[in-house]
Amino acid sequence: MTDVMLPPDQLLMDGLAIRSYDVGDGAAHAEAVTASYDHLKEYMEWAKPRQGVAESELLCRRFRAQYLLRQDFVLGVFDRRAASLVGGTGFHLRGRPLATQYAEVGMWIHAQHAGCGLGTRVLVALLRWGFTEWPWERIEWRCDEDNAASVRVAEKAGMPLEARLRNDATPTGRRRNTLIYAAQRSEWSPGTRLAGPLP
Ligand SMILES: CC(C)(COP(=O)(O)OP(=O)(O)OC[C@H]1O[C@@H](n2cnc3c(N)ncnc32)[C@H](O)[C@@H]1OP(=O)(O)O)[C@@H](O)C(=O)NCCC(=O)NCCS
Repeated sequence: MTDVMLPPDQLLMDGLAIRSYDVGDGAAHAEAVTASYDHLKEYMEWAKPRQGVAESELLCRRFRAQYLLRQDFVLGVFDRRAASLVGGTGFHLRGRPLATQYAEVGMWIHAQHAGCGLGTRVLVALLRWGFTEWPWERIEWRCDEDNAASVRVAEKAGMPLEARLRNDATPTGRRRNTLIYAAQRSEWSPGTRLAGPLP
């Protein structure tokens, strides 16, 4: 099934477009990351106080290339009316072959839009999209157990807690306890809380 899988390009939901980054998204990406630095810095190790437009543009092009090559599926969350970037998310393979039908969802929400339910809406929508138009059998959400907003978003989306990895480490070596929430295709149906109504 995954041999010929062509990744869906976008999910439209009221007011939002969740889609692959593309050529020309660099300015929006740089603005969102720079404006959100204080909000992101604790748990997003890639965040920088001043993200340049050219740097973001190269990043968006790399994301697009990886998407087309089916290596990683990084997504932007765009406000369709304002044509602005309100967050980032994605289905990440984390080094596993596509054939494993495993994806980890990552997410950050623009500081101006955080705490208003957007992260939960996006995660619920990604679970639905992931189990209908994508081939995922298992979708994970991993977070630092001290990241209360991230823990809460997984809970509100109805993802069961599966594991707590003690004294785990991030790729840059920061120690943390990692919580793993996971949703299974076999347990998912449009009627369950896990699926939830599309916001
Ligand atoms: C984590 C994140 C994606 C959540 O998105 P969001 O749009 O803010 O999430 P929501 O508004 O849908 O829900 C946030 C929930 O966390 C709760 N919350 C937020 N900060 C909290 C805190 N410091 N302590 C306890 N609860 C907190 C909110 O009250 C809300 O729960 P409620 O609806 O029961 O009141 C976003 O805050 C973010 O970008 N954080 C920085 C990057 C990050 O940590 N990403 C996750 C990596 S796993």
